[in-house]
Amino acid sequence: MSHLLSVADLGVQGIEEILRLTDSFVEVTERAIPKVPALRGKTVVSLFYEDSTRTRLSFETAAKRLGADTMTFSVGTSSVKKGESLRDTVQTIEAMGVDAIVVRHASAGVPWQIARWASSVIVNAGDGWHEHPTQALLDCYTIRQRLGSLQGRRIAIVGDIKHSRVARSDVLAFTMLGAEVVLVAPPTLLPPSLEGWPVTVEHDLDQTLSKVDVVYLLRMQLERQREALLPSLREYTARYGLTPRRAEHLGPDAIVMHPGPMNRGVEIAAEVADLPNAVMVDQVRNGVAVRMAVLFQLLGSGTQLEGVDRG
Ligand code: NCD
Repeated sequence: MSHLLSVADLGVQGIEEILRLTDSFVEVTERAIPKVPALRGKTVVSLFYEDSTRTRLSFETAAKRLGADTMTFSVGTSSVKKGESLRDTVQTIEAMGVDAIVVRHASAGVPWQIARWASSVIVNAGDGWHEHPTQALLDCYTIRQRLGSLQGRRIAIVGDIKHSRVARSDVLAFTMLGAEVVLVAPPTLLPPSLEGWPVTVEHDLDQTLSKVDVVYLLRMQLERQREALLPSLREYTARYGLTPRRAEHLGPDAIVMHPGPMNRGVEIAAEVADLPNAVMVDQVRNGVAVRMAVLFQLLGSGTQLEGVDRG
């Protein structure tokens, strides 16, 4: 693996390898000093053209825990504001001597474009509506941790699927690992065509909840919606929000997931987000170990570490 651009490129084997490696890094993150020198001397830069809290901090924490140096590029305070092109920005960053560029951009395909120009390793941290591979990996890891395996599990992804890169990467990863995925959304929030998507569709959340092992809620991506796709957020919540009453339909072992940022009171009620079977905090915690595994896999070739088994 020379870059991480898409879940599709990884294949089942690639996903399994990273999840195995993640086990070792979970162990590292639980140590009193949660650091290993695996990437000492390497530099990882985050190039974020879109807002982010957890993904950027998670990659930076992961890089630091592997002993790498980090640089952060925030578009709002950069020369992009002065009209610098993406290509010139990438060239400038590379000239400083970096080993990996973690990129998030509002346009689909930008990480692939950068991979053609750059000689560093590129990691896709979210491109438009398209893909968010490390989110899918940490979601798979979290489901396994709670439920043992994804094989034969039923997973409902609920909400603004049309605009969600998380949904696209998750559908690929979950089904590759043997889960069945059902999408639950109003027709206006589904992609115009689901041809080739290995999923079924339901419009009634109440009926679906009692039959699933995982309910995965998505934020309404209002910043990407160009037209009125819903009568109102209140009506959305009334039919598709995970309210305390609806959450009672869930089986005792079923888990509730969300990639964050949550809009409490819209797609998920505040009380439901704090239930013991809501695993959002685990998702964030596992995200650091998964990203350590990804960076180690991409940059740590030849590095042998005691207690870190490449699987
Ligand atoms: C998501 C994203 O930006 O794709 N968040 C994340 O990375 N955890 C989802 C969102 O913004 O709703």
